[in-house]
Amino acid sequence: MEWITLILTVSIVIISFHLLFGKSSPNAPPCIRGWIPWFGAAFEFGKAPLHFIQQARAKYGPVFTIVAAGKRMTFVTLNEDFRLFFTSKDVDFEQAVQEAVHNTASISKDCFFETHPACHAIIKGRLTPGNTAMLSPHLCEEFNEHLENLGPEGSGQLNELIKSVMYPSVMSNLLGRCNSPSSSLTRQEFLEKFTTYDDGFEYGSQLPEMDWANSKQWLLSLLRNMVIKAEETLNSENSGKTLLQHLASSIDETYLPNYGLLLLWASLANAIPITFWAVAFLLSNPASYKIAMDQINAVLGDQDSHCLVCIEDKQKTTVTLDHLQQMPYVKWCIMEAIRLRAPGAITRKVVRPLKLQNYIIPPGDMLMLSPYWAHRNPKYFPEPEDFKPERWETADLEKNVLLEGFVAFGGGKNQCPGRWYAIMELHMFVALILYKFDFTLQDPLPKPSPLHLVGTQQPDGPCAVWYKHR
Ligand code: HEM
Repeated sequence: MEWITLILTVSIVIISFHLLFGKSSPNAPPCIRGWIPWFGAAFEFGKAPLHFIQQARAKYGPVFTIVAAGKRMTFVTLNEDFRLFFTSKDVDFEQAVQEAVHNTASISKDCFFETHPACHAIIKGRLTPGNTAMLSPHLCEEFNEHLENLGPEGSGQLNELIKSVMYPSVMSNLLGRCNSPSSSLTRQEFLEKFTTYDDGFEYGSQLPEMDWANSKQWLLSLLRNMVIKAEETLNSENSGKTLLQHLASSIDETYLPNYGLLLLWASLANAIPITFWAVAFLLSNPASYKIAMDQINAVLGDQDSHCLVCIEDKQKTTVTLDHLQQMPYVKWCIMEAIRLRAPGAITRKVVRPLKLQNYIIPPGDMLMLSPYWAHRNPKYFPEPEDFKPERWETADLEKNVLLEGFVAFGGGKNQCPGRWYAIMELHMFVALILYKFDFTLQDPLPKPSPLHLVGTQQPDGPCAVWYKHR
């Protein structure tokens, strides 16, 4: 026993000495490693990671490494290095996310490396701009139905109202109508479990705690049932195969529910906070709201004048892609909300020594890029903190060309495969909800929470609204 204590003590002293005084390679970037071995700067970093990154950049320059909880994260902050981040053969997406995928969706390492490329290719192929267009009529029906469930008037937290409409609509659109929570009771239960899972996703991917692990198991068993239903209803839903059914054609059924859960998370977790911000930015910017409403009313109001039963038709407002094209300002508002509340960080793993500026980044480091901070570079986005939809006028959105310096969807071969769907879905939703309802904000616009690096930003405080059917 004494021997074990002695060996442990000596090991800790050696490791501490190495971490505190050990020389980094002369070509390594500045390193923030804190005072406690292994734990590193985890405490300071964990308190507000988004702010920590910005302070570190100001103090240490454009490339720096943060050691936290045994992990080395090297941040790349210069736009000229982004291409290397996205395309270098010395970095790898799958190796970077594998552990998190294992912890959040119980997909084993071997299975992930074997099946992920096929899975990514299917999702990308099914969500091209052309295929996304085919999903839009059904999505519009779903939005109409669930928006009407809000009733003629009411009040509540804006993000809760948005979730209550978007969760069931998007699930039905991507996974099949039979798989969307149908009664308000099942919707509520799904909402609670998914919110716990999503809120704890970042920490759960590293240190799963009880309540979070329960929500994961609950969702996995829900997905198992969804897969069964998707197989039973193959070809019976009149809109053709759903994304889940397409996945079933290449993914072994043992892991299909697990990939289904990841897809569900990816499709909701980023898009819903952005929808919240897009609506909240518009409601708190009267000039932008007026321009957006003039477009929305001109385009969607037009269909009322052609119909006989206007009241009933307003409950079922058709929004086609053609209509969306006639509302470019609304799309600029969506893009501006994505820019301002972009993911805190995206990641790749360094697999071979990587030359970056004058540094050599060692294999094993996680290479990090923060879209959130990249979008605050005044060279690309003048007055970066301001909500200025007009800046998107110079982007050729019709041709799916976004602004230089915009990296909210990542890049390279692992760029977000759902990006065209996301833009269409948000554009349609914002136009519809503002066409159908008048809102009054009850709280000031909240700030984004600095707590999350994974995914788009959540509001830091409440944002209650009062609403009335128009
Ligand atoms: C505004 C909304 C969204 C944002 C900002 C966003 C952003 C991102 C980012 C940054 C990545 C990682 C890319 C990289 O590392 O280079 C990603 C991956 C992914 N996204 Fe999105 N996303 C959004 C909406 C969606 C939607 C609606 C879907 C599905 C319909 C989706 C499906 C996915 C999937 C499946 C992946 C993982 C790809 C892979 O495993 O290779 N996303 N997204």
